[in-house]
Amino acid sequence: MISIRNEKTTDVAAREHLLDVAYGRVRFAKPSEQIRRDRQAAEGLSLVATENGRMVGTVRLWHVAAGEGVSALLLGPLAVHPGYRCKGLGAQLMQRAIRNARMRGHKAVLLVGDADYYGRFGFSAEKTGNLAMPGDCPAHRLLALELAEGALDGARGAIVAAGKPVPSRRPRFIPAIAVEDLVRVSHAA
Ligand SMILES: CC(C)(COP(=O)(O)OP(=O)(O)OC[C@H]1O[C@@H](n2cnc3c(N)ncnc32)[C@H](O)[C@@H]1OP(=O)(O)O)[C@@H](O)C(=O)NCCC(=O)NCCS
Repeated sequence: MISIRNEKTTDVAAREHLLDVAYGRVRFAKPSEQIRRDRQAAEGLSLVATENGRMVGTVRLWHVAAGEGVSALLLGPLAVHPGYRCKGLGAQLMQRAIRNARMRGHKAVLLVGDADYYGRFGFSAEKTGNLAMPGDCPAHRLLALELAEGALDGARGAIVAAGKPVPSRRPRFIPAIAVEDLVRVSHAA
């Protein structure tokens, strides 16, 4: 049986593998990736679908500013393993993600994708005409869903990352003695 739950830190490798399978390496060149890079996903809004411990679906949402003064979420990437498609799993992930975003008080969700697919969840380009994603993103693929009526009224300008940065992996403190040792070694070499 397939179940949907919040993503855990131990899911990262399986999620990245699933995204490689679903999108290929081209995923790193997507406009949305510029917004996601080095940012943490919005709290409580990363979902995975699993069956017998195997990850078969993923979706995440990210904090953005949609022009000046308008807070929103950016949804993506959404992916379902090729062996599990056309069984409604993508729709379940979308509905759960939207419901969780609404429950957490978010007012609007943006995404870049096919209106033919995302239209069924209420997404359209109606309110995104004056918004711009970074890079080369066709206007008809920039879609939005308001969770609160009028949340995107007057939204105009660049969509930029607003999430917390991923904590740096570099050590914060290098003891002076270690630096001196390094200098000594390099002089001795
Ligand atoms: C898009 C995706 C998440 C859908 O997952 P899924 O579990 O198959 O979705 P659902 O079962 O809820 O819906 C399947 C329906 O959506 C349609 N669909 C899937 N992708 C579509 C697209 N890009 N545009 C239009 N319709 C699409 C299917 O043809 C199917 O139609 P049907 O119900 O008439 O048979 C999955 O195909 C996927 O991971 N694709 C690769 C990643 C990708 O391209 N994502 C971006 C989409 S813009």
